[in-house]
Amino acid sequence: MKKKWGIFAAILLTFSMILSACSSTSGGSSDKDKSGKLEIFSWWTAGGEADGLKALIKVFEKKQPDLKVNNAAVAGGAGTNAKAVLATRMQGGDPPSTFQVHGGAELMAWVNSDKMQPLNDLYKKNGWDDKFPKELINMVSKDSKIYAIPVDIHRGNVLFYNKKIFEDNHLEAPKTFDDFFKVADKLKAKGITPLALGDKEIWPATMLFENILLGKLGPDKYKALWTGGEPFDSPEVKESAEIFKKMLGYINDDHSSRAWQDASQLVADGKAAMNVMGDWAAGYYTSLNLKPNKDYGWIETPESDGDFMVITDTFGLPKGVKNEGDVKKFLTVLGSVEGQDAFNPLKGSIPARTDADPSKYDDYSKDAMKDFKSDALTPSLAHGSAAPESYLTKVNQAVNIFVTQKNVDQFIQSLKDASSELKK
Ligand code: BGC
Repeated sequence: MKKKWGIFAAILLTFSMILSACSSTSGGSSDKDKSGKLEIFSWWTAGGEADGLKALIKVFEKKQPDLKVNNAAVAGGAGTNAKAVLATRMQGGDPPSTFQVHGGAELMAWVNSDKMQPLNDLYKKNGWDDKFPKELINMVSKDSKIYAIPVDIHRGNVLFYNKKIFEDNHLEAPKTFDDFFKVADKLKAKGITPLALGDKEIWPATMLFENILLGKLGPDKYKALWTGGEPFDSPEVKESAEIFKKMLGYINDDHSSRAWQDASQLVADGKAAMNVMGDWAAGYYTSLNLKPNKDYGWIETPESDGDFMVITDTFGLPKGVKNEGDVKKFLTVLGSVEGQDAFNPLKGSIPARTDADPSKYDDYSKDAMKDFKSDALTPSLAHGSAAPESYLTKVNQAVNIFVTQKNVDQFIQSLKDASSELKK
C-alpha cells in the first residue's frame, strides 16, 4: 500500500514539474501575474516602507481603476531575500512587471546582461528630463539611455537617537568619533545600551562600517575605494576598522538576532540610545507615530557632516513583460509628483523629483532635502550602488567574521582580497 502511494506521489510530482516548466517557458506570468494583476516586486514589508508602497499603489489604482496590482513584496531588509528570488525569476525568463532596484551598480548589472528596456520615451512623454537631479539620472543611465525611474532618495549616513535619553543625561549628539565614544561611555556607565545594532542580516553592520569609512576618508577617498583609486590597507582604512571594532563594544547583546527595524525599535523604546541606519528608520518611526525632534533626534554619522550617502530605489521595465503599456502607466504614477508625495513622506525618504511639495514632509525630511542640495553625494556600498554584487557579497562575509572575531589585520586582508572583484 505504502509503495503504491509512493508511485502515485512520484507521478504527481513529475506531472506538476512538467506543468511548471511549461508555464515558465511560455513566458507565463510575465508582467501580469496569474491573477491578471500588475506585479510590483520589492522588499518593502516593514513599517514605513510598506506604508509608502501601499500609498503609491492607492494613487495608481485610483487613476487606473481597471488595473489591479499584486504587491509582490519579499521580506528581508535591503533585499536580502528579494534579490535572490528576482535573480532566479529573471534568469528563468519570468520577470515581474517591474521591480525595486538600487540605482548604480545594482541596476547596471541587469542593464549589462540585456534584461532592461530604455525608458527615454517615457521621460520625454512626461516632461521628466529636467525633473530629477542629474546625479540620479546618471545612476540609472548608460550610453544616454535611461533605464529606470527613481522613486526616492534615502540617506544612509544618519545616526538616530532617543531624545529623552539624551536630554535626561545631558548629552549632545556626537559630531566626531571622539564625541561618540565619550557619549557611549557615559551611557554605558548608566547601564544604557549606547548603540543598537540588528545584524541578523549582515548589511546593517556593513552600513555602520561604510559610514565610518566615509567619516575617516572623506567623500573623495571614500568614492575612490570602489574605483580602485584608494588602497584598502591605508592608515585611514585601518583606523576605520579599529573604530568599527571599538564601536562593536557598545552594542546590544542580542544584535545577531535582530533585524534592522528591531534595532530601531530599541531606540524607540528607550532600551538603547543610538542607531546608525538609513532613513527608512525615520519612516519606521513615523509608522510608530513617533515625531522627529520630539521623540527621536538625528545627526550625520560621526565626521560625515556635509556628506550625503545616497541610496535611491528605482523601478524599470524588464524585457519580456507582455503588457508594457500597463507597466508604463504604473511607472508614470511612480515618477509623478503625486505618486512621489504619497510615497516618500511615509517612507522616510525625500522625493527623487526636485519639484515635489516640501510642505508634505516632516522636519527630518525637510532637513534631508536641504542637505541633499548642498552636500557631497556618495554611493552606498551596502545598498548596491557603489560596487558589483560579487564584491559586496565578499565584504558582507568579511564583516560577518569581523563582528565575531574582531581581527583588524584579517579584516583588512579580506577587503584587499575581495577588491579583485572591483575590476571585473
Ligand atoms: C532600500 C530601502 C529599504 C531598506 C530596508 C534599502 O536597501 O533602499 O528602500 O527601506 O533597504 O529594507
